[in-house]
Amino acid sequence: MIEYSGMHIKTCKNVYNPAEDSFMLSNNLLIKKGDFVLEIGTGTGIIGLNASKTALKVVATDINPYAIKCAIANKKLNDVKNLEIRNGNLFNPVLNEKFDLVLFNTPYLPSEKDEGVDDHLDDAWNGGINGREVIDPFLDNVKNHLNNKGTVQLVQSSLSDIEKSCQKLKKMGFNVQITARERFFFEEVVVISGFLNKSID
Ligand SMILES: C[S@@+](CC[C@H](N)C(=O)[O-])C[C@H]1O[C@@H](n2cnc3c(N)ncnc32)[C@H](O)[C@@H]1O
Repeated sequence: MIEYSGMHIKTCKNVYNPAEDSFMLSNNLLIKKGDFVLEIGTGTGIIGLNASKTALKVVATDINPYAIKCAIANKKLNDVKNLEIRNGNLFNPVLNEKFDLVLFNTPYLPSEKDEGVDDHLDDAWNGGINGREVIDPFLDNVKNHLNNKGTVQLVQSSLSDIEKSCQKLKKMGFNVQITARERFFFEEVVVISGFLNKSID
């Protein structure tokens, strides 16, 4: 069990344990009262739960069914009403929905083809050969799920080409800023924030 920001977060087998990157995003949310928020890849639910304190409603998704069970348990444990948890790949669970803020602590580590163990926990960190196999389709589709003045915040590492993500977002019309960064032994981990039709507020 983790105590974080007044919440109790149960950790679960086969689910990503909240780590430095989770707290980096969760402590730097660009969220406003009344926002409609989507968190992709919620794991234990820690970021979605934190966002639910300010948001009007949060939809939190994960491709890992164990994470869905875990996030539902944590929602109950913290008696949160405005958080909905859905299973599925990227934007599939929210096909025709738009949000004010979209969050994703991505699986950003590059790996060799045979490096993963191909279980659900693997999905938490394995970004494929260049570390971008989940980041790229996420970025390619995020604009379709943002309101007019929407914001996207994603976590990634210098090992998976931060500049490429920033350029992709700029090409789609986002103003882009690195809003948090932390250096670790072999990489830098950042929160990239992209703003549609506005600058940072
Ligand atoms: C680094 S973990 C972050 C978990 C949690 N948000 C946190 O910060 O502690 C990445 C999460 O994304 C999920 N994930 C990976 N690929 C996904 C995809 N294509 N669609 C939805 N979720 C995905 C993983 O199952 C994992 O729970």
